[in-house]
Amino acid sequence: MAVIARQCSNITVTVVDISEERIAAWNDADLDNLPIYEPGLAEVVAKARNKNLFFSTEVDKAIQEADMIFIAVNTPTKTYGKGKGMAADLTHVEQCARRIAEVATSDKIVVEKSTLPVRTAEAIQKILEQSPHGAQFEVLSNPEFLAEGTAIADLFKSDRVLIGGRRTPKGEQAVQALVDIYANWIPREKIVTTNVWSSELSKLVSNAFLAQRISSINSISALCEVTGADVEEVATAVGKDSRIGPKFLRASVGFGGSCFQKDILNLVYLSEQYGLDEVADYWKGVITINDYQKNRFTNRIQRALLNTVNGKKIAFWGWAFKKDTNDTRESAAIYMADQLLSEGAEIIVYDPKVPLARMQMDLQILWEYRGEMKTEINGKLAKLYSVNSPAAACTKAQALAVITEWDVFQTQDFETIFNQMKKPAFVFDGRKILNHNQLQSIGFTAYEIGKETED
Ligand code: UDX
Repeated sequence: MAVIARQCSNITVTVVDISEERIAAWNDADLDNLPIYEPGLAEVVAKARNKNLFFSTEVDKAIQEADMIFIAVNTPTKTYGKGKGMAADLTHVEQCARRIAEVATSDKIVVEKSTLPVRTAEAIQKILEQSPHGAQFEVLSNPEFLAEGTAIADLFKSDRVLIGGRRTPKGEQAVQALVDIYANWIPREKIVTTNVWSSELSKLVSNAFLAQRISSINSISALCEVTGADVEEVATAVGKDSRIGPKFLRASVGFGGSCFQKDILNLVYLSEQYGLDEVADYWKGVITINDYQKNRFTNRIQRALLNTVNGKKIAFWGWAFKKDTNDTRESAAIYMADQLLSEGAEIIVYDPKVPLARMQMDLQILWEYRGEMKTEINGKLAKLYSVNSPAAACTKAQALAVITEWDVFQTQDFETIFNQMKKPAFVFDGRKILNHNQLQSIGFTAYEIGKETED
């Protein structure tokens, strides 16, 4: 929304949230205190804030004044009831729609920005039609394709903007109104308009295809490790085929983030609902390989440490699900720490953007969801530490695991780090960002994902 305000000075954008704390952070004079860290975001907010971009908790006033309302609330995977662990939880979306219906006294265009299951627009439309004030609504789907860490750049220079609307004169008018906004900075040929369902489904399918590429290359990384092939060389050779392309073929500890797993589960659930079990199984495979990759990497660490990590210190470089973000949702680090802490290891983490409290919370949520006892949880959390430099994490550690690909990890003084570590000192590079010949020559036993390493 900040980018829309920045690019369209004639439009007033009001971002509302029921959380006073979050809105206060958005209004904070110190731009370092914005609730989200995203390169370039602070500059965009600084330029537009209090000119045509406002942050407020006055939800009803903003609803009444708006011509167009974007619903951009969280739709996490359900943790209860029907579809638990698979379907999207639409509680917040529904609450928004009900509030709009109750409060709006004039006609509005309502835009789904959150990623939603197919046919949610229809459900929102039905709720809005209950408006006691006789207001008319047109619901559009306008899914977001930005990636974290490059969100602002992605928004300024999108591959495409997708807008789905009803194929009726009023629907088409609403689609055109939103097209006109994006056309202020996105070339018209990149603005794709479709029916509502195609738009909703395209978002899920885009993420599923991206995740599928990562699982494909990660599955091959396992094969490379036993055959002597190098997954990076394979990815380069395969990606040169212009029909395949080079992007999203980086083998890793497994994909994380708030979208891929959630959206695939959503697609699986949707397919099952329509009795398409083969389709559901096909997409489930992408998640199976991702879980396998996270476990495989952790098992490799355990195997190298002679299957006893109890009492051993293991350094984690990175906790965020990828570099340049403080977001940790579904990060491989959580699942690796879970396994290693449960085996009695001590974990010392350095992440430039993630505080210890966030790491503790991530694990606590996972363990509480599994029904673990408070005493057990506290016992394991007492063995998780965070430090303020990459080198400090390695002091007296037996092994170093590179989990997030932060640039700073490539320029460390590995001689000094080696001297601080217990011997034999192991490096497990889950991102393939370090110079392994250099590490080996210093004396490390260096393992990288997708390449054969002697035990
Ligand atoms: C993703 C989609 O890219 C974006 O279009 C959508 O709107 C939201 O979901 P995001 O989750 O922010 O964006 O991050 P992305 O860059 O796609 O990375 C997702 C995960 O895949 C990260 O954990 C990343 O490290 C991993 N990844 C990505 C790989 O392991 N290998 C790759 O080659 C690319």
